[in-house]
Amino acid sequence: MSVQTEQPRTTIRRLQEMRKARSPIVCLTAYDAGFARLLDEAAVDVILVGDSLGMVVQGHDTTVPVTLDHMIYHTSMAARGCERALLMADMPFMSYTGPAQALANAARLMQEGGAQMVKLEGDGGQVEVVAALARHGIPVCAHLGLRPQSIHKLGGYRVQGRGVHAGERMMRDAVALQDAGADMLLLECVPAVLAAEVRGIVDIPVIGIGAGADCDGQILVLHDVLGMTGRPPRFATDFLAETGDIRAALAAYVSAVRERRFPGPEHSFQD
Ligand code: KIV
Repeated sequence: MSVQTEQPRTTIRRLQEMRKARSPIVCLTAYDAGFARLLDEAAVDVILVGDSLGMVVQGHDTTVPVTLDHMIYHTSMAARGCERALLMADMPFMSYTGPAQALANAARLMQEGGAQMVKLEGDGGQVEVVAALARHGIPVCAHLGLRPQSIHKLGGYRVQGRGVHAGERMMRDAVALQDAGADMLLLECVPAVLAAEVRGIVDIPVIGIGAGADCDGQILVLHDVLGMTGRPPRFATDFLAETGDIRAALAAYVSAVRERRFPGPEHSFQD
């Protein structure tokens, strides 16, 4: 039996309600218990244990070297600090090449890591995998746009979906992934106008990173918010620089997203 507390845990249902109420969903990455606790206390709605840990924690140039065991290790740490936020974990490179592999690996992320939702990078080609996960009761977020695990194929970290054909394809993929059972979409580095169009044709929450202000929520990498990455991407802001304190920086990020002051046009990409 679940006990109702003042601040109940964020659920997929709650995220849906927030979308309907147009109440911005605040998401941020964390990779260990200490930061997960701080994010939880700052009332972040969704904590992502992102495979960005390969770059910001492990020091690699890409997310490709991150393994499932790394993800389980970091997710289990974050889970110990996370009581209120919904805990989402990335499925790393090559861990979801087909339904059977995806099911086995998502099960490990949930059972050993404590994740409540998994995220995978994909386009329409991942429909079968998403459908299998959804059929087995596994909440899924589909990550469209810039997909860092495909960096060697994409040839660089650049805006995706530019041009009529690419934009139409992203919209088709978004609908196909939703219809396959995805509970949430994440759009990375997508022109703001396209992101708004995608949001308009799906019914599930759309979270943006470098995707403009018209998404249902926003996410950033924690190390960018805390000014630790040296040269933050254009779509990020160093909230520590303006506050000088980690808790205050997290609070500033949360209120900037809730009050729709972040992202501004300077953080977004045009067509
Ligand atoms: O791995 C990660 O941190 C991500 C964010 C860029 C959203 O996927």
